[in-house]
Amino acid sequence: MSDQVSAGAVTREDRGDVAVLVIDHPPVNALSQAVRADLIRHVLELGADPAIACAVIAGRGRAFIAGADIREFGKPPFAPLTYEAAFIIEASHKPVVAAIHGVALGGGCEIALACHARVVTPDARLGLPEVTLGILPGGGGTFRLPRAIDPLVAIEMIGSGHHARADEALRLGLVDAIATGDVIEEAMAMARALVGQPLRRLSSAPAREIDDARARELVAAIEKKARGQMSPGEAARAVYDNLRAPLADAQAREREAASRLVYTEQAAALRHVFFAEREAARIPLIEGVAARKVETVGVAGCGTMGAGIAVALVDAGYAVIVVERDEQSAAAGAERIAALHDRAVASGRLDEETRRARMARMAFATDKAAFAPCDLVIEAVFDDLEVKQALFRDVSAIVRDDCILATNTSYLDPNAIASAARDPARVVGMHFFSPANIMRLLEVVHANRTSSDVLATAVAVGRKLGKLPILAGGCEGFIGNRILAAYRRQCEYMLEEGATPREVDEAMESLGLPMGPFAVADLSGLDIAWARRKRLAPTRDPRERYVAIPDTLCEMGRLGRKTNAGWYRYVDGRRADDPVVRDIIDAAAHAREFPRHRFSAAEIQLRIIAAMANEGARILDEGMALRASDIDLVYINGYGWPRWLGGPMFQADRIGLRAILDEARAMEARDGHGWTPSPLLVRMAERGETFGGARDGVRP
Ligand code: 3HC
Repeated sequence: MSDQVSAGAVTREDRGDVAVLVIDHPPVNALSQAVRADLIRHVLELGADPAIACAVIAGRGRAFIAGADIREFGKPPFAPLTYEAAFIIEASHKPVVAAIHGVALGGGCEIALACHARVVTPDARLGLPEVTLGILPGGGGTFRLPRAIDPLVAIEMIGSGHHARADEALRLGLVDAIATGDVIEEAMAMARALVGQPLRRLSSAPAREIDDARARELVAAIEKKARGQMSPGEAARAVYDNLRAPLADAQAREREAASRLVYTEQAAALRHVFFAEREAARIPLIEGVAARKVETVGVAGCGTMGAGIAVALVDAGYAVIVVERDEQSAAAGAERIAALHDRAVASGRLDEETRRARMARMAFATDKAAFAPCDLVIEAVFDDLEVKQALFRDVSAIVRDDCILATNTSYLDPNAIASAARDPARVVGMHFFSPANIMRLLEVVHANRTSSDVLATAVAVGRKLGKLPILAGGCEGFIGNRILAAYRRQCEYMLEEGATPREVDEAMESLGLPMGPFAVADLSGLDIAWARRKRLAPTRDPRERYVAIPDTLCEMGRLGRKTNAGWYRYVDGRRADDPVVRDIIDAAAHAREFPRHRFSAAEIQLRIIAAMANEGARILDEGMALRASDIDLVYINGYGWPRWLGGPMFQADRIGLRAILDEARAMEARDGHGWTPSPLLVRMAERGETFGGARDGVRP
């Protein structure tokens, strides 16, 4: 017999003497204020109800509870909070058992830990991923989890945000049983069995003894690995400190840290990225459009990029046909692929048997005719228009009429490449980032005539590769490299105006980038950009401000780290300032007659963010990106921006678009041509808007 007692965010359904509390807050049962309040009310009511002996908490729909409602973060907290709900559940004198399906994350896992036992479905996942949002568990996780499982594992889990699958959770002792049938029925049985027994309340249970030195080493390692992100270290330390602390102190420590971290810039940035990633999945142009079936993929060219693409494809389950121009290049390509797999085997990510199975799906050829059975061919040949056009012309004559041709060009006009194909509607850009088997970003480039199902297929293949596909328009440099050019240009301008490469690098490193722009340029080599500048020289607008310093460095054979000299001098791999570079910069600046001054780190950061945001705004204005948050994701997943910085457009919002506009206007006054503030930036700044708020106003 079942008896429905009330409706709301949480429904109570009495099944005999068991009250089943079902959370019903779509889409993922986030622990909103209404859910917290309802849970508390029900637990107090059932405690006083003589007809009820015990209770089960379960979730309706996709998940048990996906955690606190992230949309409430950064706003004043609404009582009751998760930790209060957890204490009330734990204090119940009637057994309460969690019946978990889908996910129990963050506050959801904390509610489960407050229950007296936990039963899960075989596909359930549990974890405390708060650190990935820049915070730490605030519902008792820092002191309950290390009392449920090995405290060292708890430090690691909370410090990394790792999700444990059901079998791992059972092994760790995080859950009590994996259901073989209906999870609610089995949780009810467990609850009944607990009636009259001493209840396990984790907050007052003793923690297992640990090796203190190892725990401290672990906390230090987590702090180091976080590379500037605060939350992992703080969370790991809180778990460690709470191991032996009285409950009241542990609770106070957790609350203090949770309520402080949630208001930090890092937490705001990480929340922005969380929602940006979900938003990026929405590409209106292809909504409801079916992707074509892709099983066999051709890769033309097996240099560094082609090899990375081929490995990404074969690892994701595709059959791959690699074509190189001759036997020698094909052998070199096969070696590159083997080396990438060697690395995966050495690091334990791949076992020999899987590797053999993958290689059995890969074929090498020197004749493009081998592409005949392909559903998709991705070219990764030399970035030269004629070479790529010739390839697409040839491949068009070989492949089936429904085969998609994708170009991996980084700078060339995809429309010009597409024009060489028999059917330009089947041509799309798939711009991978090196190393292509590792980097998560994939710019999917919409050429003028790309058909929507071809676009949908490129996106679907990208997702199957585990990449984050971001739609870009077919402009010079697409999203990422176009903004990169504006970024680099601005950095070079500042050299002519008085900054040093080290000052610029250190300013960006202090903002949070792993490496400043000049150090990065030295690492990747100055010659590629030099070749490009030479290629573009004949069409360059003569009014454009052009900084010749990098050309001078290249002419001197200073190509970066590989020649032990570039923007810096390298001694034993360490960068050192070089008076030669200083003299080159001085001479260039003198010739320009720019007023020179000392730059503060803040001024450098402002100019760079303004330049990037201004270019980003142009990209949006031209419809080359769907939304500002996509631009941020490009920088985070393709250009080494840490997630906790939120990306350049987010940074511009934080500085304020009015200040960015003022800086863009100052750039225009200084530099003349090429720095006109984007009309979108002007409009938004004048209306007091932010890029975050402009999402819906941007056309695809
Ligand atoms: N709060 C608010 N909205 C949430 C949410 C949350 N915790 N989790 C997911 N959503 C929303 C998403 O924004 C998305 O909304 P949309 O459809 O409007 O874009 C919708 O739910 C579905 O999410 P996904 O697209 O991500 O669906 P998936 O099925 O791919 O993934 C998930 C589901 C595994 C639950 C994933 O969304 C996720 O990892 N969510 C975040 C989990 C998390 O970090 N929880 C911890 C929060 S912090 C906390 O609990 C503090 C505590 O200590 C007090």
